[in-house]
Amino acid sequence: MNYLSLDDAARKAELDALYAEYNKIKDEGISLDLSRGKPGADQLDITMGMLGVISHSNDCFTETGFDCRNYGNLDGLPEAKRLFSELLGIAPERIFIGGNSSLNMMYDTIARAMIYGMGEGNTPWSQQGAIKFICLTPGYDRHFAICETFGIDMIPVELREDGPDMDVIRELVQNDPQIKGIWCVPKYSNPSGTVFSDEVVRQFAALKPKAPDFRIFWDNAYAVHDLYDEKVELANIFDLADEYGTTDHILYFASTSKISFPGSGVALLATSEKNMEQIKKIVSVQTIGHDKINQLRHVKYFQNAKGVRRHMRHHAEIIRPKFEAVLTALREDLADTGVARWTEPKGGYFISLDVTTGSAKRVWNLAKEVGVTLTNAGASFPYGHDPYDRNLRIAPTYPSLKDVKAAAKVLTLCVRIAALEDLEANK
Ligand SMILES: Cc1ncc(COP(=O)(O)O)c(C=O)c1O
Repeated sequence: MNYLSLDDAARKAELDALYAEYNKIKDEGISLDLSRGKPGADQLDITMGMLGVISHSNDCFTETGFDCRNYGNLDGLPEAKRLFSELLGIAPERIFIGGNSSLNMMYDTIARAMIYGMGEGNTPWSQQGAIKFICLTPGYDRHFAICETFGIDMIPVELREDGPDMDVIRELVQNDPQIKGIWCVPKYSNPSGTVFSDEVVRQFAALKPKAPDFRIFWDNAYAVHDLYDEKVELANIFDLADEYGTTDHILYFASTSKISFPGSGVALLATSEKNMEQIKKIVSVQTIGHDKINQLRHVKYFQNAKGVRRHMRHHAEIIRPKFEAVLTALREDLADTGVARWTEPKGGYFISLDVTTGSAKRVWNLAKEVGVTLTNAGASFPYGHDPYDRNLRIAPTYPSLKDVKAAAKVLTLCVRIAALEDLEANK
């Protein structure tokens, strides 16, 4: 039923029927959550074997005889670098292995730029007046929160099906020296699942920024998080940047948060040799080294890139049905209505749902009132402000499949109610 072409009587009848359904659910007193972009317990269970790979002192030594229990090794174990190098296609000498969180490394990277300058010899960002970052929307709220906390102005640019409009990005970056960075989640973007096309990646590598201290924050958080056997390949930004002589622009982040354990995984930052020198100099004052036992645990458990990919297939087997349950509900209940559109990601952790303009908050509230928690409407936009109030981020991985199915049905009901209410109000 196309809601946009209903006459007044038909619209009212449909809305009454949906309210009746809604009130019935309200009486049932459900409590479901589609807001949390984290693995379910069943996913965490598949990595438990990792905790057993180091249990004796003999297990604690690296291939060069380094004792991981002790201080040292600032930028990570060579075998950990090799594992990520093979997995992500990045030269080991460009990799700095950090602690348990890539977000932490992103925050620290910006904090260092504020205090010391981005790139040796450049003026600290904090001394350059109002600086700006380009934020692709919808995007990852925590990227935007970092900008907000440092007082960095955010310029939203729409994320399209194959990445941003690179003419817009080029125009901004090549003319404004106050633009110091852009946040990118190039593969299975949070929340749309977008994968940047080869051409978009090439054009990122080809950027000639006005600011000498401009950087591309390439957050490849979902690099190996495919839902299907048929892999979606992302072009290698370093290969292209090497070609254009722009490798210093690239700050690449990744982690095993959604491979092993969020909070107890291993994170990395990869960049040019020149940037790396400055980073190591500063970080060496901050710490004597990160958790090498955990790095070694990851290496021993996964062995190589093939081991990681095999492990990711298990994750996919668990979460694919949950994604498909949401997509089935969206298709069944909303496809004909003309009041919603959504992404159908091939990987990552989220689905992005657009409802009618001005009704995302209403959908959120309707869902909340019957016990279904959604990520705050607007969360995927700088300052939490969706200019069209239409986007919702759906996170299907954490609840059980049964709960995902039930929550998705409530969601589609709320979307239909909000759309009809809006049509009714604006008739
Ligand atoms: C795009 C993106 N980057 C980074 C993170 C957090 O990564 P980490 O756990 O390594 O800090 C997330 C978590 O949801 C994410 O979606």
